[in-house]
Amino acid sequence: MLMNPQELLTDVPKRVENPDLNNILAYTVKPDVINLAGGLPDPAVFPSEPLRDIAERVLKENYAAALQYSPATGVPEFKREIISFLSRNLGVEAKEDQLLVTSGSQEALFALAMSIFRPGDVVFTENPTYYVAVSLFKAFEAVPVGAPMPSGQLDVNVLERKIKEVEPKRRKLIYVMPNAQNPTGASMTEETKRHLLEVAERYGLPVVEDDPYGMINYEGKSPRPLKAMDRNNQVIYMSTMSKVLAPGLRLGWMIGDKELVNAVSNVKQVIDLNTNTLSQYVAAYALRGRVIENNLNNIKRVYTSKRNAMVDELRDSFGDRTDFVKPESGMFVFSFFKGVNTRESLKEAVKRSVLYLPGDALYVSDPRYDAARLNFTYPSEDKIKEGIRRLRQAFY
Ligand SMILES: Cc1ncc(COP(=O)(O)O)c(C=O)c1O
Repeated sequence: MLMNPQELLTDVPKRVENPDLNNILAYTVKPDVINLAGGLPDPAVFPSEPLRDIAERVLKENYAAALQYSPATGVPEFKREIISFLSRNLGVEAKEDQLLVTSGSQEALFALAMSIFRPGDVVFTENPTYYVAVSLFKAFEAVPVGAPMPSGQLDVNVLERKIKEVEPKRRKLIYVMPNAQNPTGASMTEETKRHLLEVAERYGLPVVEDDPYGMINYEGKSPRPLKAMDRNNQVIYMSTMSKVLAPGLRLGWMIGDKELVNAVSNVKQVIDLNTNTLSQYVAAYALRGRVIENNLNNIKRVYTSKRNAMVDELRDSFGDRTDFVKPESGMFVFSFFKGVNTRESLKEAVKRSVLYLPGDALYVSDPRYDAARLNFTYPSEDKIKEGIRRLRQAFY
């Protein structure tokens, strides 16, 4: 007879348990629910025709390699295309042996965390931050310590104070999203970025720059990533095809010091041997054909309009009962609602078939219970407006 699962399990599954994420993923397949909780792109902006043609070409011209296992570090053709893409669009430079291809940037984070954390190590984060990263840090018994970000700018002085409070051998790394932060949609100014790099260098701390949304900017050109300002190899850069091409490809990457990348790639190899080879070939062809660059204005136009629809409806429905900074980038409005406990009100919202992410889930300390993360990229504009109106009924 099978052993009692409770006796079988370690405490890891409990530690990483994330009911909010379960909720989001479960509701992804329920079309009658207005889902403002997730971070899904709008399928209407997927470049489906170019991808269909490319997939066909890959399978005709290159099927033997594309359907085969491939190097754990990534398919060389794809790596070369990523390097050229980052250089021409973001000023991020890398060599092939500094780049590891992963199954989404989520795997890059996981393999890095598995490679570096000892129980009790401290990871310094923005507060609020990307909650799934926090869950995975906890899998390795790392302790997140957050620094606030008043009006979207990380308070680097507070961050430094927090670093000083931790004994040096437990300080492990800084995890940030300098451009298009999740959930606030804000980007650090060049001054904040420089200050952050200075502090990281002073304490010898690597900075993980998680940059999935950096190219999705609604107010002009995308700001430079921290990595483009990094002179001393202090920054470990992570990004993904998920938000600018398609998350279903499950392609991300990490760029860092060659030795570190090599070590993390050993870990990645025992997780999944290699990243989906077919996806890598499809993405390599797409990058070579400038599919992302050709589609970026379309993505920005559709999302700008949706962002405006959400912001306008929030103002119309809630007036001065809501408070938010209009996001310049990314996929979310992070909003506060006067006198509302968004965690408790979620039940009321679900009754009205609308879902959001309660803001307290995104804090590593000092949670705000009146906050909600609202996604504007996935639902249609009508659904966004209807969803916000239903929230008004659920909240007041
Ligand atoms: C900040 C951030 N990092 C990483 C990820 C993981 O993305 P993926 O694994 O699809 O590349 C996400 C996904 O939403 C995200 O928002």
